Amino acid sequence: MAAKVELTTRELKPGFGAEILGVDLAQADAETLKAVTEVFQNSGAILLRGQKMGPGDLMAFINQFGEPEGHTLGEYTLPGYPKIYVLSNRIVDGRPIGAHNDGVVWHTDYSYRQEPVMCTMLYAVEVPPVGSDTLLADIVAAYNALPEARREALDDLVVHHSFQYFMESRVYGKAETSPELFAQNPDVFHPLIRRHPQDGRKALWVSTGTVKGIVGMPEPEGAQLVDELVAFATQDEFVFRHRWEVGDVLMWDNRCTLHTGTLFDDTKYIRQMHRLWVKGDRPLAANGQPVFAPAA
Ligand code: OGA
Ligand code: MN
Repeated sequence: MAAKVELTTRELKPGFGAEILGVDLAQADAETLKAVTEVFQNSGAILLRGQKMGPGDLMAFINQFGEPEGHTLGEYTLPGYPKIYVLSNRIVDGRPIGAHNDGVVWHTDYSYRQEPVMCTMLYAVEVPPVGSDTLLADIVAAYNALPEARREALDDLVVHHSFQYFMESRVYGKAETSPELFAQNPDVFHPLIRRHPQDGRKALWVSTGTVKGIVGMPEPEGAQLVDELVAFATQDEFVFRHRWEVGDVLMWDNRCTLHTGTLFDDTKYIRQMHRLWVKGDRPLAANGQPVFAPAA
C-alpha cells in the first residue's frame, strides 16, 4: 500500500483553516488529492496558491469533494461548464460575463435553499492589486465565545431565509429576477445554531442577505438580534482576510464559516473568479435534528 501522503500546511489563523504548500492541484495524484480533501474536512477552509487550473481541472478537483451544485443565475456560468460560475466585472460585446460584487455582505452560500451548499471554491483568474479581499469568519469559534446562558438561549432559534427578499433588498450584485425564479426558490427555515454533521461542533450560523427574520420574534427585534450576532461573529478575532493573487484556490466549508467579498475600484481594475459549489445536506440544529417550517 502506498504511504499516506503527508502535506505541509500552516494555519490561516490560529485554530482555523489551512494553507497547503507544495501541491500542484492540476497535476496531483489521487493520494495527494485525497489528503487535500482530508485537510479541508478538518480545518474549515483551505488555501492553495500558484495553481494553474483550466475549467476541466476545476471540475476534476471539485468532484473530489462531492457532487457539484448548479448555480441559480445560469447566464453567468462559463460556456460549456454549467457548474462553473463566473464572478467578474468584465464586459464583452456589451454584456457582463459574470456576476459583479455578488458576495459583498456577510453570508453563507445558497442559504435560501433547503439544502445549502456544503462548500464553495473560488479560483482567482484575474485580481485587482488592491481591494476585493475575501473574508472568512470562524463561526464555531464565535459560538464558543458566547457566554453559556446566551448559547442556550440561541440553541433552538429558527431563521427564515428568503431568496425573493434577498434579491429585492440587495444593494450589491443586483440581478434580474422573475416570478418563475422566485417560484423555483421558495422560502426556507434553517437553524440559527448549526451542528456540523461530521464532528458535531456547533456554529453560530447567522447570515445576512437572505435572512428575513427569526421565527416567533417580532420586528425590529428579530433583525436587531441578527445584526448583533453577525457583528459578534465577524469581529477581527474570528476573521481571516484573504488578499488575492492570480492562481489562488480558496475553499471554505459553509457549515462552519461565514464569508463576505469586499469592494474594489472597478473603474480601474478587472476581477475574475471561477466559483464552484458542492451539494450539501439539510442543516442540523443544536439538537442534531433538522428544523421544519413553522405552522402558518
Ligand atoms: C460567492 C462570494 C466572495 C468574493 O461567490 O459566493 O461570496 O470575494 N464571493 O467574491
Ligand atoms: Mn458567497
